[in-house]
Amino acid sequence: MHLVTQTRKKEMEGLSFMENNLKKRYEALQAKIVKRADEFSNLIDFIEKSTTWLTAPASTRFHLCKEDGLLEHSVNVAETLIRLKDTLYPHIEDESCVIVALLHDLGKAGTPDGALYLKNEPTERQRYAGYGPTYPYRYNTDLTYLSVPVRSLYLALPHITLTEEEAQAIVYHDGQYVDDNRSVAKNECPLALLLQYADNWCGFVVEDFKVSA
Ligand SMILES: [Fe+2]
Ligand SMILES: [Fe+2]
Repeated sequence: MHLVTQTRKKEMEGLSFMENNLKKRYEALQAKIVKRADEFSNLIDFIEKSTTWLTAPASTRFHLCKEDGLLEHSVNVAETLIRLKDTLYPHIEDESCVIVALLHDLGKAGTPDGALYLKNEPTERQRYAGYGPTYPYRYNTDLTYLSVPVRSLYLALPHITLTEEEAQAIVYHDGQYVDDNRSVAKNECPLALLLQYADNWCGFVVEDFKVSA
């Protein structure tokens, strides 16, 4: 590993908010949801039992493309979002931050009918040469196409009420990296802007040390 990468990794590991106990961190975040506790707990029950929420990767080949990667990413984003909000815009409730951060990429868990990300198998040639697949996961093209944020809303809304700001934050969390999001440019609410930044910070810095090297 490159020296700068090692140093960066140590720095990130040393940050107290990155306590390396995913389950505890996940539970601590859930405890911040008070007003919609029952709705949220129904939603969590549904996604934990009926989708790959607890085991899915965060991407096919980029940040946290490993088992539990989606949960780890969602927890990282929630913790980062609360820190940003506390500093920049404390009017937003922790509850809102936890809900949008934990749900923004929920669509990556797929549906009860199938996972969105499937484990990739090595090609015949790769297997023969003793190599693994080029990328750890691939998209399940059997699912009806929905963008990840739209599938997140599709899964969440039957179980939990969202404010317009929360819905906006989830749907447009990729910001201007995605052409479809041109329509929201300059109309983002503070929660959406903060979620976009927290998501990018985690994906590009916290979870991918190569980028900061
Ligand atoms: Fe995303
Ligand atoms: Fe994300």
